[in-house]
Amino acid sequence: MFIASLKRLTVCLSQRVRRATSSLGDLLAGSRRFNSWFYPDVNIDETVSDEDPTDSDHSADEYRRFNEHYFTDLHEQERMLADKQRMAFYHEAISRHIKPGDRVIDLGTGTGILAAFASRQGAEQVYAVDHSAIIDHAMVLAAENGIENVDFEEVHSSEFFLDEKVDVLLHEQIGDYLFDEHMVPNICDLRDRLLKPGGIILPSEFELYCEPMTLHDERRVPYIWELNDVHGFDFSSIKSSPPNYPDYYRLVSCDLSLVKHFLGTPRPLIEVDLHTVTNSSLPLSVSFTRTVTQAGILDGLAIYMKAKVDEDLILSSSPIDPERASHWGYRILRVDQTQVSVGDQINITLSAKAWHDPDSWEWTCEHNQTSAETNSP
Ligand SMILES: C[S@@+](CC[C@H](N)C(=O)[O-])C[C@H]1O[C@@H](n2cnc3c(N)ncnc32)[C@H](O)[C@@H]1O
Repeated sequence: MFIASLKRLTVCLSQRVRRATSSLGDLLAGSRRFNSWFYPDVNIDETVSDEDPTDSDHSADEYRRFNEHYFTDLHEQERMLADKQRMAFYHEAISRHIKPGDRVIDLGTGTGILAAFASRQGAEQVYAVDHSAIIDHAMVLAAENGIENVDFEEVHSSEFFLDEKVDVLLHEQIGDYLFDEHMVPNICDLRDRLLKPGGIILPSEFELYCEPMTLHDERRVPYIWELNDVHGFDFSSIKSSPPNYPDYYRLVSCDLSLVKHFLGTPRPLIEVDLHTVTNSSLPLSVSFTRTVTQAGILDGLAIYMKAKVDEDLILSSSPIDPERASHWGYRILRVDQTQVSVGDQINITLSAKAWHDPDSWEWTCEHNQTSAETNSP
């Protein structure tokens, strides 16, 4: 009781000091005279537009700043916390695989929820790391919830160091496109520096899917140039100057009533085990064929993920899975609409300059009415 009150007092004091110093920092950084001490002399907008996704240092820095800012938003945190499938998956994974006495790193602790689960599971020590200011909330919430053996570190994981390696690396670095929250480089770095030989990464097995699918008729939205008769009005001329911003070509939705069905039998495009993956081990281009098993209009390719802890403990963002984790969006890579029949083949190639950068993704989709099957992934 006394320790909990003391801890709460310490947390409040440290928060005040942190806020005071950051206000002082803002004041100084806001001053024209001191501004150049804080900000490098570059035009951010120009840097972004010229960005080459293969320039890994540059795009990693850019993403890091975006991520740090994005997750300070309590709405982003509450969406994740309210996702019942996600929370049940992590609670069960931690109950099954974190043992009393384990030392654990929670990479990207956010509100500290997974660190709290690990602590309650009997972990000897939890290091909760987050580069975002959301960690201020995590510290207070942990004290208020009687969580006492978690060290909160406001730092990017690449700058987090420990003298002794840990038993478990816990994380939720899963993006809509699976890799877009830089899960692979972040985990590889901590795994190689701070995880004991034989230590576990939770979760570690992931699958990325890219499945040709058809939309529900009443939900289908074609490309604008395909609308050549909206009560006698024709939009087809827009085809000569189509939009060149990538988001136009990859729709996002969390909605279970958008995709009617897959056209073939789903198989993972890429499978990853974080215990063994390296930054360079992912193929940058995958080609495969799906034989159509259910006819329909080919509207696009559904991008979604699965995370597996055990055979009976799987998290899914599939657009047709009623048990899908609700807060993750799935993506639809748009293609020209084509009617396909059972037995037809759809040849697909998906490439990326860097998987973590969806703007670098490119895809082709070719409809073939012959019957020989060549499924590869
Ligand atoms: C998807 S949220 C998960 C939050 C929390 N673990 C949960 O499950 O509710 C990812 C968190 O990781 C943090 N983060 C992302 N990359 C990080 C890195 N390399 N180092 C430290 N924190 C990071 C973000 O600020 C964010 O709070």
